Amino acid sequence: MGNKNVYIETYGCQMNVSDSEVVASIMQEAGYTMTDRLSSANVALINTCAVRDNAEQRVWGRLYVFKQQKRRNPSLLVGMLGCMAERLKEDLFDKGLVDIVAGPDAYRDLPNLVQQAANGQKAINVLLSREETYADIAPVRMDANGVAAFVSIMRGCNNVCTYCVVPYTRGGERSRNPDTIVREIRELVARGYKEVTLLGQNVDSYRWTEGSEASRTVTFARLLELVAQVSPALRVRFATSHPKDMSNGVLYTMAMYPNICDHIHLPVQSGSTRMLELMNRKYTRDEYLQRIAKIREIIPQCAISTDIIAGFCSETQEDHEATLSLMRDVAFDYAFMFQYSERPNTKAARHFKDDVPAEEKKRRLTEIIALHNELSLKNNEKEIGQTQEVLVEGVSKRSEDELFGRTPQNKVVVFPKRQHRIGDYVQVKIIRCSSATLIGEAASPPAPQSPAGEQGSYAPEGATINSKGQRPVIK
Ligand code: SAH
Ligand code: SF4
Ligand code: F3S
Repeated sequence: MGNKNVYIETYGCQMNVSDSEVVASIMQEAGYTMTDRLSSANVALINTCAVRDNAEQRVWGRLYVFKQQKRRNPSLLVGMLGCMAERLKEDLFDKGLVDIVAGPDAYRDLPNLVQQAANGQKAINVLLSREETYADIAPVRMDANGVAAFVSIMRGCNNVCTYCVVPYTRGGERSRNPDTIVREIRELVARGYKEVTLLGQNVDSYRWTEGSEASRTVTFARLLELVAQVSPALRVRFATSHPKDMSNGVLYTMAMYPNICDHIHLPVQSGSTRMLELMNRKYTRDEYLQRIAKIREIIPQCAISTDIIAGFCSETQEDHEATLSLMRDVAFDYAFMFQYSERPNTKAARHFKDDVPAEEKKRRLTEIIALHNELSLKNNEKEIGQTQEVLVEGVSKRSEDELFGRTPQNKVVVFPKRQHRIGDYVQVKIIRCSSATLIGEAASPPAPQSPAGEQGSYAPEGATINSKGQRPVIK
């Protein structure tokens, strides 16, 4: 091959964004160059999500676009990575749209796979690993802003929520060596990064043990502390927390370190204990509410966000109303809300009937979204008149003269640019809001350093991962 240009597109959760950065690193090491134009690529990779059917449909749509490009450039190799690759394996070759299939634990093998495909062979590696954490690989940051980075601290998931495909596509849970995590974050700080988000499907079960007699055990609370200590000017966020596992230790650590952002993403999924049991979430509605009460006791200003599924198997109107009432009780700051989408081979697909009619799922979801918008607008209105510390991440999409960033509570704030720059911490007085955004005015001269005694959280919108300014689709 002459030029070896690799183009990569990323869908799915922040984990995939982080994995694409690992893939870029592996490919560069093997002599490839990253390109952000499909038209100049020799290898086009698509890092995929399988969590809901519509996530997969979107990927198929893109593969047809890649196919058109292949007509123009017949030597273009197309590779599917990520969760859909792991779920569909060899079957992916059937439609003649892909040349390479690599599951989430097989990325070190990608340069070989590309070579095999270039030689006209079927190139596939979907082996899941019990050890792989890509701990030693320095990810190539593809986000343009240079302010906020994702750092993967573990891989896989050991929970078996009955609706969820992730344990099958990502394999068993394994934690990454904390020394490599801290080293990666020190390097980010040295390069001027101001925020890290620690990523795992269930960060609360992070656990690193060294030595036969457990001479050193690092829990998530301890890891959080180690990361917070890297620099007081670094904001630390994390996701996702699981209501059954989130310890008070984590809450006390958050309360102790001003640079750990005051935000917890705590997916509830449903407000009905009967549904939670069918989902195998391992907590009841009351236990969830007790966790919320504890968060508010220890960190009163903490923002709380969630994920909700509407119309899971056998969900009744009463179950649905239990979700609405829980939403009113908690008043989430933001939420990701979905209709249940049956995933082949999950426990729910094998044992339960997907029996809530599509229109009913849609109706319930619409109701959930409307209530959420109403509640989050009320939450945001409470911010009017307050001054918040905002870490500037970029220029607003709507106007060149406005910047956007986030508060420690992870709320997006837009304000006039004036002399402020990307990467600055700016004190912003909130003057208006919508249910999704706060609008403000800078209340301070530029203050480039330090999250002055404030606390923050995680970034569900993800990072911009290629220079086209495309944001990855999160969840
Ligand atoms: N590990 C995280 C999130 C994993 S996937 C957690 O445990 O919370 C992100 C979200 O997608 C889930 O929280 C859930 O709300 C949603 N989801 C997962 N499987 C789904 C399905 N089959 N249909 C609809 N939503 C689903
Ligand atoms: Fe899926 Fe449950 Fe694991 Fe989250 S905790 S990834 S919802 S199985
Ligand atoms: Fe995989 Fe993340 Fe989607 S783990 S299935 S890419 S939500």
